[in-house]
Amino acid sequence: MDITILSIFPRMFQALNESLIGKAQEKKLVNIDVVDFRGFTTNKQNHVDDGTYGGGAGMLLQAQPIYDAMDYVEKEKPGKKRVILLDPAGKTFNTQMARDFAKEDQLVFICGHYEGFDERVKDLVTDEVSIGDYILTGGELPTMSMIDATLRFVPGVLGNSVSAEEESFSNGLLEYPQYSRPADFRGKKVPEVLTSGDHEKIRLWRLTQSLKKTLERRPDLLENADLTDEEQKILRKIRRNN
Ligand SMILES: C[S@@+](CC[C@H](N)C(=O)[O-])C[C@H]1O[C@@H](n2cnc3c(N)ncnc32)[C@H](O)[C@@H]1O
Repeated sequence: MDITILSIFPRMFQALNESLIGKAQEKKLVNIDVVDFRGFTTNKQNHVDDGTYGGGAGMLLQAQPIYDAMDYVEKEKPGKKRVILLDPAGKTFNTQMARDFAKEDQLVFICGHYEGFDERVKDLVTDEVSIGDYILTGGELPTMSMIDATLRFVPGVLGNSVSAEEESFSNGLLEYPQYSRPADFRGKKVPEVLTSGDHEKIRLWRLTQSLKKTLERRPDLLENADLTDEEQKILRKIRRNN
């Protein structure tokens, strides 16, 4: 996979050189380039922002440097691209989007700052995406979150390829509780079933816990979850006993 990030704060992306994403780059599973679109301004002061027509507080990122930076990206990396604009008004990012992005050959993220973008920048993009109903100072941290979540679905990025599929949200449910050694810590004991060695019982316990937790904390997820017959049966039992 190839990722290009358009940002006026390229140093922020040094964090992507760490941990599993850093390793994925070393293993050439992904190539990540950051393009500073300040380098594409045509004014002497290298300003990327200006006031808004119609008045109002704050500065807006202008269309010109972003259009020119995108022309450069297209020249350097021709081909079909998913171009993602970081925008609080966009569709909220989720696991399904991460899976979809992971199937693409080329992703481009455009990070905003100040009051956001000149509306005409939106003509360059395929997706407008938000990470939630709150405002950050720029699109850099949301971009890193999305890249991290997306690359988890690229084969080989996680040491254990099953784990991305077993985590919360992957099957529409929250993850079951997990424990590590010791079995008794300050009198807090690990549920007996987990030390029983009975794999079928453990599987059932985990599934039940997962359904219980989702019902308690995120019942909205259950409305859209594609539950198996077994899961529906367990869920009915949990509801009866509540
Ligand atoms: C201060 S915000 C601009 C907010 C904008 N004036 C509004 O009310 O929607 C600056 C930039 O940070 C990024 N940003 C801030 N919050 C975000 C969020 N929740 N999701 C995605 N990007 C966000 C966007 O790129 C945005 O253009």
